[in-house]
Amino acid sequence: MSNLITLPGLIDCHVHFREPGLTHKADMVSESAAAAAGGVTTVCEMPNTVPATVTVEALMDKVRRAEKIRNSEFRIQNFDMRFFMGATEKKHLLALRDIWRGSSPALQQLKKRCCGLKVFFDHSTGNQGADQETITEAFRMCGEMGIPLVAHCEDAEINSVTGYGLRVTSDDVSIHSKMRPPESEVAAIKRAIDLAREYGTQFHVAHLSTTGGLQLVREAKKEGLPVTCEVTPHHLFLTVEDYETLGTLGKMNPPLRSKEDQAALWGGIADGTVDCVSTDHAPHTLDEKKSGDPLKAPSGVPGVETMVPLLLTVAAGKWPHPNPNAKSIKEKAKIQISDIVRLCFENPNRIFQLGRTKTDRTITVDLDQEWVIHGKELHSKCGWTPFEGWKVCGAIL
Ligand code: DOR
Ligand code: ZN
Repeated sequence: MSNLITLPGLIDCHVHFREPGLTHKADMVSESAAAAAGGVTTVCEMPNTVPATVTVEALMDKVRRAEKIRNSEFRIQNFDMRFFMGATEKKHLLALRDIWRGSSPALQQLKKRCCGLKVFFDHSTGNQGADQETITEAFRMCGEMGIPLVAHCEDAEINSVTGYGLRVTSDDVSIHSKMRPPESEVAAIKRAIDLAREYGTQFHVAHLSTTGGLQLVREAKKEGLPVTCEVTPHHLFLTVEDYETLGTLGKMNPPLRSKEDQAALWGGIADGTVDCVSTDHAPHTLDEKKSGDPLKAPSGVPGVETMVPLLLTVAAGKWPHPNPNAKSIKEKAKIQISDIVRLCFENPNRIFQLGRTKTDRTITVDLDQEWVIHGKELHSKCGWTPFEGWKVCGAIL
C-alpha cells in the first residue's frame, strides 16, 4: 500500500553544516545529503564555522564550497544552500553592509546567497556572543537596510550568574536546563523586540523555546512589529524528562524545557504565532557528546533529516515519542500537511526573501510508509539522533 503526495522541497532556515573548519563533525556534502533524504532542499546555514562567516572572503569561500554539493554522489541536484553572515564586532557589520549594497557584480551575486545576519546574545558553540554595542548597531543597520536579523536569544548575564551558582553543585547534565533558565530567553527576547521596535528591524527569533518568549512574540505581532519566530523539533518533541534516556545527547542551547513550555509551543503553532519549524541541525560527534565532564559536552543535536517525518507523523494523528509518559501532549499537538508547507516553506521563503517557488523542486512523500529512526542509517556524518528508535510515518521517496 502506498499513499503518495507531492510537496514543494522544504526549507530549513536554521542549520549548522560545520564547513569549513569543523568537518570532522559534518560537512556540506554529508549534511545536504541528510537534508535531501529528509525532504529539505533549501537550507540557511549559520556563521559559527571556523573561520566564522564574518567577512566577505569567508562568505565567498562558503559559496564556492557549496558548489560541490551539486556534483556529489548523492541525489541532491538543485540543492539550495544560503548563508547567514555573523557579527561579534562592529567591523563585521561593515562586511555585511558591503554585500548588501553590492557595488560590484561579484558582491551582487554574493548577496543572492546571503539570507541575513545572525547574532548571538550569549555564547554557544563557536563563542559568537556579541557585546551590547554590536547588537544595538546590528539592529540599527539591519533596520536601515532591510536586512533580516536572526538572534539567538539567551541573556549572557543571567546565564552566567545562574550557571556559575549551579555549576559547582552538580555534574548532572539535566542541570543545563537550569543553568540557562527560561528567564534568560525571555529577557533576551524582550531586549531584542525593544531594539526591533526602535529601529524598525525585521527580526526573527531563533529556536524559541519558552512560554514567556512566545507570549512576547505574540504581543509584538499584535503591535504590528515585523517580528517572527521559529521553533525546533527537539523543543516540540522532547522535554527535560528526556535527559534520563538521552543524557548529554539531550544537551543543546537553548536547553530542553518543561512539558508546559512544550505545550505552549504547540499552542503557538495552532494560533499562528510560530512562523517556522526549523531544526538548528547541529551535529557533533558521539565521542564529543559522550566523553568527559557532562557539563562540558558540546551543545547541539542533529535534526535536518528527521524534521519532516516527525511532523508528518503528527499530521497522521500519531505521537512518535516512544515513552508513554510523553503522550499527554498528543491532544495539544495538532498539525496538518498544509501547516507543514506553511511552516517549512511559505513562511521561511517569505521571511528570508529566498525567492523559491513551490515547483522549483518537489518531493514525493509516501504517507503510509512507517519506519523507525536509527542514527546509523541517517546520512549526517555524526551518525546519531536524539530520536533513536522512534517510529514515524511518512517516507521521502
Ligand atoms: O545547541 C546549539 N548548538 N545551539 C547553538 O546555538 C549552536 C549550535 C551549534 O552550532 O552546535
Ligand atoms: Zn543554531
